[in-house]
Amino acid sequence: MKTEENFHIPVLSHEAVKYLINESLEYQILADGTLGGGGYTKLICENTKPTDKVISIDKDLNALLYSEKLLENQKEKIIFVNGNFGDLKDILDEIKIEKLTGLVLDLGLSSYQLEAESGFSFMKDTDLDMRAYKKDGITASEILNSYKRDELEEIFENYGEIGNAGRLVKAITDKRKIKKFNSTFDIVNLIKEEYKINKKNEIDFLAKIFQALRIKVNNELINLEKVLNDSLDLIEEGGRIVVVSYHSLEDRIVKNFFRKESEKYKESDNPFYKTEVEPKLKIITKKAVKPSPEEIKINPRSRSAKLRAAEII
Ligand SMILES: C[S@@+](CC[C@H](N)C(=O)[O-])C[C@H]1O[C@@H](n2cnc3c(N)ncnc32)[C@H](O)[C@@H]1O
Repeated sequence: MKTEENFHIPVLSHEAVKYLINESLEYQILADGTLGGGGYTKLICENTKPTDKVISIDKDLNALLYSEKLLENQKEKIIFVNGNFGDLKDILDEIKIEKLTGLVLDLGLSSYQLEAESGFSFMKDTDLDMRAYKKDGITASEILNSYKRDELEEIFENYGEIGNAGRLVKAITDKRKIKKFNSTFDIVNLIKEEYKINKKNEIDFLAKIFQALRIKVNNELINLEKVLNDSLDLIEEGGRIVVVSYHSLEDRIVKNFFRKESEKYKESDNPFYKTEVEPKLKIITKKAVKPSPEEIKINPRSRSAKLRAAEII
């Protein structure tokens, strides 16, 4: 039996919900774009009126089924959607909701996915799949077995921030001529054979390789950029955007987006003048909010989390 604890321990949940709900608004129609184990949605339900609404989305059907059961007693308030937050606009069209009063995203994977689903963890030997949405898309093994060298280099450089990705890619393309990549341990064994580095460096390196493949397989950064841009039209004045991210690539996208959309001036053709523009956002977390030492002690997976929030103006 999966409990709330072992499905996923929510990270920065009280902070996320505090920033998400603008209490000066008359009613709330909030979207939780990353339902996972339902921790955020549960807290949102506890902090809103019975007439308010929550749209809870997850790509992963297992997460959706688990949370639907957990939140059975709140089913009047919640609309559960098995979909991609990158398609938020279409999802809202389909359920006939014009505007939200807030959107929260708690990016990455749930503990359940990391531990039980195929390909995400290099600690266990499973199929090298990595798709959170099993209905479509290319798997991690298909990428390793079929992409050209320059395409693979781009993935490892851009999404894993791996230096000298050329050496890694050469090892992969040499290996796949002899045996195709099918399982997570095919990568682990390649790194052990090729690099012969100490255990700590090996784990750091594998984490970067797995991160890069996961981002590519699930279009993670593309979906994040899309939903942030769309949210400017989908959230009403006074509504909030809250994002919790777990690595620098995601955090940079959120930080730059908030900064750009809150600026009062933009570069113009004339290098000596900037053009005045109406900002669309007000940043409400001057610096990223991080978990307390107590939270990190209870839940070490929270250590890299950063929360940023902004309000539509
Ligand atoms: C860190 S967990 C969220 C945990 C959740 N806040 C809780 O309290 O249990 C991230 C979840 O987001 C989902 N996810 C990641 N990218 C997604 C996307 N583009 N669209 C929808 N769900 C996504 C994952 O499947 C996973 O269940």
